[in-house]
Amino acid sequence: MTSMSPAPGFSSASAPVPDYACARVTKCLFPVAGLGTRFLPVTKEIAKEMLPLVNRPVISYGVEEAIESGCPDIIMITGRTKRSIEDYFDSSFELETLLKTRQKIDLYEKIHKISSMANVLYVRQSEPLGLGHAIAKGEPFCRGEYFGVILPDDVFITEDGVQPVLAQLIDTHDKLGGTVVALERVPPSEASRYGVIQSEAVGDGVHRIIDMVEKPSAVTEDALAIMGRYVLSPSIFPLLARERPSVGGEIQLTDSIRRLIGSEPVWGVEYKGRRFDCGTQKGWLAANVALALEDADLLPVVVDTVKKGVGSKDPKPL
Ligand code: G1P
Repeated sequence: MTSMSPAPGFSSASAPVPDYACARVTKCLFPVAGLGTRFLPVTKEIAKEMLPLVNRPVISYGVEEAIESGCPDIIMITGRTKRSIEDYFDSSFELETLLKTRQKIDLYEKIHKISSMANVLYVRQSEPLGLGHAIAKGEPFCRGEYFGVILPDDVFITEDGVQPVLAQLIDTHDKLGGTVVALERVPPSEASRYGVIQSEAVGDGVHRIIDMVEKPSAVTEDALAIMGRYVLSPSIFPLLARERPSVGGEIQLTDSIRRLIGSEPVWGVEYKGRRFDCGTQKGWLAANVALALEDADLLPVVVDTVKKGVGSKDPKPL
């Protein structure tokens, strides 16, 4: 645990569940306005969410997760350099006509599915004022209902038979009501990269959250950190509207979720699955290698390249 103590006036007792808790979660926000500076220069012209993860863009993993979790209504909080995301999820009339004319029906169906599998709306975040500011832009679409949030840099892969991670959170929301965040236990050296929680375990990987802090500096033990999946109460919007910039000079979502604690239930779920951090070059490369190793066609390519030095200037087997 971290050295945090519960915020003044915060109680760990179960808070009342608001009336609108019964409706199904069908909408999901995707904040995608970030400039991707960690990937420069490639992200000077290409949205980081459109970088390939094996054979499709990173963002398509998150969109499929939302759909499989029962959220076909997707709202992208986007920015000036992100037009390629809109084009990707739009239909491509010329390409689809060409594929049909050439009888490439399998490929046509694959391409057609991209634009037909979800209802995708776009809203601009004109200034990069932080995650909390981005989520606030979703208010006109989610007013009065619980909604999902997917940070698409965090790619989650679940085994066959295991629910997608957003669905795991929705499941907890359906059972317990309230806001839910995805959690992963991280070592102290990594805690400062995340929102970190203090909690009481209630069993089966579920935690009642007592407090949370964004990017803590002095963590001495393993900590439960928030990963990029949320089910949020619409009560978050008036809190975000009043939120002041904090860590990094940005309006932090974590600060507003913290304000919910005590007036509404806030839970954390240690998700089941594997996470790849595609928000850094190293994490993105590792994700590509790991997923290529699970593809029968690509596995020998990766193994040959690494072990035999195939393609290198000066082949040196490892
Ligand atoms: C954001 C959130 C942070 C969370 C992290 C997960 O941080 O603010 O609480 O732990 O996503 O990836 P960011 O990565 O935008 O700095």
